[in-house]
Amino acid sequence: MLVNGNKILQDAKKGKYAVPQFNINNLEWTKNILEECENLNIAVILGVSEGAAKYMGGYKVVADMVKALMEELNITIPVCLHLDHGSSFESCKKAIDAGFSSVMIDASKHELEENIRITKEVVDYAHSKDVTVEAEVGHIGGTEDNVTATSSNATLEDCLTLVNGSNIDSLAPALGSVHGLYKGEPNLDFETMAEINENLSIPLVLHGGTGIPDYDIKKAISCGISKININTELQIAWHDAVKKFISENPDAYDPRKVIGSGKEAMKAKVREKVEMFNNK
Ligand code: 13P
Repeated sequence: MLVNGNKILQDAKKGKYAVPQFNINNLEWTKNILEECENLNIAVILGVSEGAAKYMGGYKVVADMVKALMEELNITIPVCLHLDHGSSFESCKKAIDAGFSSVMIDASKHELEENIRITKEVVDYAHSKDVTVEAEVGHIGGTEDNVTATSSNATLEDCLTLVNGSNIDSLAPALGSVHGLYKGEPNLDFETMAEINENLSIPLVLHGGTGIPDYDIKKAISCGISKININTELQIAWHDAVKKFISENPDAYDPRKVIGSGKEAMKAKVREKVEMFNNK
């Protein structure tokens, strides 16, 4: 069942665990994640960046592929199809019209006032279609989709202003996590995270889940994080397995065998993350 983010994230907030967002890149990614989450019987959010959607052929291709796979694979868990880092109202609208059940509008590169204006425009449209909206405040750094950004941390005041001014459903405050691989140890601002959580009723999202040590993930969940995004780590798990397969089978040319050789490593990584996020 394709669902929006509301119930699964509110349940996670109440139950003090985090729902995983695994980013998808192609059919195999989607299939592996859906199968393993069904096996574990947990709700999952499939994150799709604008670049990944373009790679797969567009939002409609992605939405129809996810729905068709869910039907063919008899997926019964709640699945949320979420646009990751939508860069404009038009992009979010396109994803919503194609059948996405949730979107992130990332207008965090703008001044707060403009961030709120764009975010609210997305919320008004999304809510009229029963689609949930995540927004970002401060700016999450690192590299994603070949775009590298510098971090700037969110403040409690800016979080309250954005949430009150836009009526979003979940918030990603930038608090030191980065996309992609960390240079050195992650340095998350747990104090502000807990403070934001105490002052807001909506679920909080942690981006840049790759490379954050288990103890920091657990601490983030105890400070109110209800959704954690993982992209790079699944790519690395898949890549390591495929590299090994190719070196052991240099004559393999069937793409099903080459791409498929990363399947078990991906599924093992999904299990590891789900266990750590204490999902139920
Ligand atoms: P990582 O690539 O660091 O796992 O981050 C994923 C993410 O935050 C997607 O928005």
